[in-house]
Amino acid sequence: MGWGSGQTRWVSDVDRARAELVDGLVATGRIRSAAVEEAFRAVPRHLFLPDAPTETAYADDAVAVQRVDGVPTSSASQPSMVAIMLEQLDLRAGLRVLEIGAGTGWNAALVARIVGPSGQVTTVDIDPHLVDSAGRHLATAGVTGVRLRCGDGVAGEPDGAPYDRIVLTVGSDDVWPEWVGQLAPGGRLLLPLSVRGSQLSAALDLGPDGLLRSHSLRSCGFIRMRGPGAVDDVPVALPGGGALWVVTDGPGADPVAVAAALADPPGTVASPVGLGPADVRDGFGLWLALTEPGAGRLLADPDGELPAGLGPGSAVPVLVTPTGAAAPGLATVTPGPHTPSGARTQGRTCVPTPQPVCEPGRAPAGCEVRVFGPGGPELGHRMHRALDAWAAAGSPGGPDWVLTVVPGGSPVPTATAVVRTPHAHLLLEPQARGSSTTSGISRSVRF
Ligand SMILES: C[S@@+](CC[C@H](N)C(=O)[O-])C[C@H]1O[C@@H](n2cnc3c(N)ncnc32)[C@H](O)[C@@H]1O
Repeated sequence: MGWGSGQTRWVSDVDRARAELVDGLVATGRIRSAAVEEAFRAVPRHLFLPDAPTETAYADDAVAVQRVDGVPTSSASQPSMVAIMLEQLDLRAGLRVLEIGAGTGWNAALVARIVGPSGQVTTVDIDPHLVDSAGRHLATAGVTGVRLRCGDGVAGEPDGAPYDRIVLTVGSDDVWPEWVGQLAPGGRLLLPLSVRGSQLSAALDLGPDGLLRSHSLRSCGFIRMRGPGAVDDVPVALPGGGALWVVTDGPGADPVAVAAALADPPGTVASPVGLGPADVRDGFGLWLALTEPGAGRLLADPDGELPAGLGPGSAVPVLVTPTGAAAPGLATVTPGPHTPSGARTQGRTCVPTPQPVCEPGRAPAGCEVRVFGPGGPELGHRMHRALDAWAAAGSPGGPDWVLTVVPGGSPVPTATAVVRTPHAHLLLEPQARGSSTTSGISRSVRF
């Protein structure tokens, strides 16, 4: 216990820790609305993490609460990301909300606080143990009225439909028709959606024509869905270290041929296109994955070292020749020497994608394209053309794309990029960086 700053009353350590966390989220722009701020101040996160010390419960970090083979399968999501998503949801008193991914129950409690007694919150988790513990946490925190269900979230929860908002707090590779069918007219679906190796928190509004159109997109990195709807697209380990993740449709790449190509000294050609560390995954990395066949990511080993002497990091965008190519090879691109390097991402946990920013006043100055193997030079030309096209389009980052979701069975309209999922076509159009209202908001936030 101790004195609160300037207050003539005792405050507990947990209250002070929570106040400091919320003050930080407001200061950095993650929390923007009075409703979200009030909920964050009112709902005690530590009661949803009963085994965590206070400093862990109120750090701006995801806290894993369940692991299988060392891999987190449930967590209390990072407060920053929770705040960002609650702002994307645009909640108001009286709304009916379905959450998929109950976890600890903390986010459901925040939502319940905002929609109030006139609203309705239903939350679903696939794991019965987690549903039990979420129920206990909600009861301890004195949160009443949240409907807890155990089941596979791909089915939604028809009993409570229609919903004004459906929010997934678990990553999905698809837009399931059940979710669209359970949305009220004009409702909003918010989900961490995998798009060719990036994950975007996509707020999608249901139009009168039955299509979903993005209101806002934000970079994120959530645990992915379990159950029959899960997609198993693990990267392929390379014999010489690291892994390759080809994210486009098509034949994939031969790991042995790729490793052999990477063993040879590369050719390097500089590009004047400014590429900062933040552009690697959801900026140029996403552009490349959406516009070029054979695009993917070269991933680091657990020690954070990338293959072929590419230095520390987590991933670099690549173009790679397909399995069986007569002249195998690959091309990589890395931020140039004048930008901060060595940034690491934090894997698939519930955290916002860390996007290191350049030092004040230092714009990214160029980048380096490296080519490996006999097929590398041709891929290098394609990489340079893609860099030029990305720069000409205004260097869009993840939040700068406009996404329209069309049901899978319908004809595919033309778009700059079309990604097919089992149940939907994702149509993507880029906007210049920071040109949309929502991307302007996101740019004011540092992940
Ligand atoms: C990041 S956690 C959710 C965090 C939670 N909202 C909170 O506030 O603590 C993701 C959750 O999604 C659940 N999940 C995974 N696959 C699911 C599925 N197919 N249907 C429903 N829940 C699922 C996991 O069990 C896990 O608890």
